[in-house]
Amino acid sequence: MKVVALHNLKGGVGKTSAAVNLAREANRNGLPTLVWDLDAQGASTWILGGESRLSRKVDKLLSGKSPLGEQVQHTAWERLDLLPADIRLRDLDRILGEKADGDKHLKRLVEPFSEEYALMVLDCPPGLSTLAEQLIRAADRILVPTIPSPLSVQAYSRMIDHLDLKKRQRERLFPFFNLVDRRRTLHRDWIDSPPAEIGQPMRTWIPYASDVERMSLECRPLADLAPRSRAAQAYRRLWQELKADLDG
Ligand SMILES: Nc1ncnc2c1ncn2[C@@H]1O[C@H](COP(=O)(O)OP(=O)(O)OP(=O)(O)O)[C@@H](O)[C@H]1O
Ligand SMILES: [Mg+2]
Repeated sequence: MKVVALHNLKGGVGKTSAAVNLAREANRNGLPTLVWDLDAQGASTWILGGESRLSRKVDKLLSGKSPLGEQVQHTAWERLDLLPADIRLRDLDRILGEKADGDKHLKRLVEPFSEEYALMVLDCPPGLSTLAEQLIRAADRILVPTIPSPLSVQAYSRMIDHLDLKKRQRERLFPFFNLVDRRRTLHRDWIDSPPAEIGQPMRTWIPYASDVERMSLECRPLADLAPRSRAAQAYRRLWQELKADLDG
């Protein structure tokens, strides 16, 4: 099983939109896929039609005292499953930070799902958190949606500094541009030659498109909502680029 996380220090940059669309693309490709909504806001749970509620105490689930696997919900898409959010996940950082196995704890929680799934997608809350530190061990790839703006690039640099990554760990970070508007000079320039601070972003970028906003109104990924739209095609290419890297 491969584990792909959507993470950014900044909020509202497109983590959830990418998590849901990438998971659905993987699922369309026949991969049994699990989305873990780690954000108390429950946005990916909402879009995938799940119920934002864990039936056991979050502390118990995250310490392994209650089996996490029992919380999995099926979605309307066969072999696309959901480990839903819960409002009590707002304590996630404290709980992860208290565990004796330190920064390997999240990895230990994720591992048992490899029996059933080929891909696990983690939709993370924003912030420089304990979660972010543990992601480096738990995830094969960390995708970082980034708006083409100086402040977003600065946030990316701060995240790298904070995580204090070794070279090999840094290679697991994959920034990609989201909310791109080709009418804007800066956006065009950065697509062609990205600023040095974000290294080599993914080739695929996601355009600004109102279809993406409709996902949370209609509770469907773009592959179902507007399969031929520019944004749906962009997420499909993003998945193909990611898959080629994971397979390679
Ligand atoms: N490419 C896009 N085009 C248009 N709207 C977008 C695009 N990407 C994201 N959005 C919209 O921006 C808002 C934030 O997106 P999303 O929820 O995916 O971000 P997030 O990083 O998960 O946010 P949070 O930090 O709150 O979890 C949503 O309303 C979403 O529909
Ligand atoms: Mg989100």
